[in-house]
Amino acid sequence: EVVKRRINALKNLQVKCAHIEAKFYEEVHELERKYAALYQPFFDVRSNIVKAAYEPTDEECEWKADEDEELTDEMKEKAKLEEEKKDEEKEDPKGIPEFWLTVFKNVDLLSDMLQEHDEPILKHLQDIKVKFSDPGQPMSFTLEFHFEPNDFFSNTVLTKTYKMRSEPDESDPFSFDGPEIMCCTGCTIEWTKGKNVTLKTIKKKQKHKGRGTVRTVTKTVPNDSFFNFFTPPEVPENGELDEDSEAVLAADFEIGHFIRERIVPRAVLYFTGEAIEDDDDDYDEEGEEADDEEGEEEADEENDPDYVPKVRTVHFHAM
Ligand SMILES: *[C@@H]1O[C@H](CO)[C@@H](O)[C@H](O)[C@H]1NC(C)=O
Ligand SMILES: *[C@@H]1O[C@H](CO)[C@@H](O)[C@H](O)[C@H]1NC(C)=O
Repeated sequence: EVVKRRINALKNLQVKCAHIEAKFYEEVHELERKYAALYQPFFDVRSNIVKAAYEPTDEECEWKADEDEELTDEMKEKAKLEEEKKDEEKEDPKGIPEFWLTVFKNVDLLSDMLQEHDEPILKHLQDIKVKFSDPGQPMSFTLEFHFEPNDFFSNTVLTKTYKMRSEPDESDPFSFDGPEIMCCTGCTIEWTKGKNVTLKTIKKKQKHKGRGTVRTVTKTVPNDSFFNFFTPPEVPENGELDEDSEAVLAADFEIGHFIRERIVPRAVLYFTGEAIEDDDDDYDEEGEEADDEEGEEEADEENDPDYVPKVRTVHFHAM
């Protein structure tokens, strides 16, 4: 009994530590904000090169020769094909055509959401920016998708904001492991008439009960599209979500986090495929040894140096 009593005291100390840890992550967020400002000038130049607002000098275009080896055969093939195509068209490409669309296609997490009818729209995507919440404000980050003027919608920026919480849960303080995304909000897309790819019209036959006559009515129903990313399910006040919405949100948080943490900082490597090749290599090595699937996944989590700090913020906790 007396020892048990003291253990309770230790647990209370542990809760205090969890609250200190929460402060630590708040400072990490502040640091991230500070460094985001230091990266931004370079991201701006990147954006200007992609959208042909700036032509890099010869000096800026110098890159060490062994870089070619890093390109996959597939990339080389693609480059060759594109070169041939260009020769035919005798057209001078502007900036880096389809830069972000290619990034999307190269990343499984994003390409899974991508529908064929999304692609012509994403060709107009010129930049993705991450904005952190101001100091003293509740912790959040916003992804800004900057588009050039296009026929599909009138917005120039589409936004997605992720609200986070860095605070131990009263009812389960020991599970605290850093900030978590709590909910997210999208934006209204001002679709041009007839261009709303998140909608489709279907024709339905309706039979009049009495007369037995049949008429055809058209109905609009939701259509699969990347652009549904901007209308995520809402987390209701009581925190209760149906399974579907919960799955959608869990995937959404993971995507939002991945865009912020990996894609935006290293976009060029996802464009060339270099960042993806690394992931594949890891996978192959581990796949050879593990024979049951569960074991494989566990090995993945343990050996992936990114795993622990990255996934922490995407756990979904309904309040
Ligand atoms: C709805 O989705 C289908 C399949 O992805 C696509 O072929 C079709 O064009 C979409 N409809 C609209 C109106 O965008
Ligand atoms: C586009 O479709 C969505 C449903 O997927 C709907 O909520 C929205 O109001 C539509 N927007 C326009 C401008 O038609």
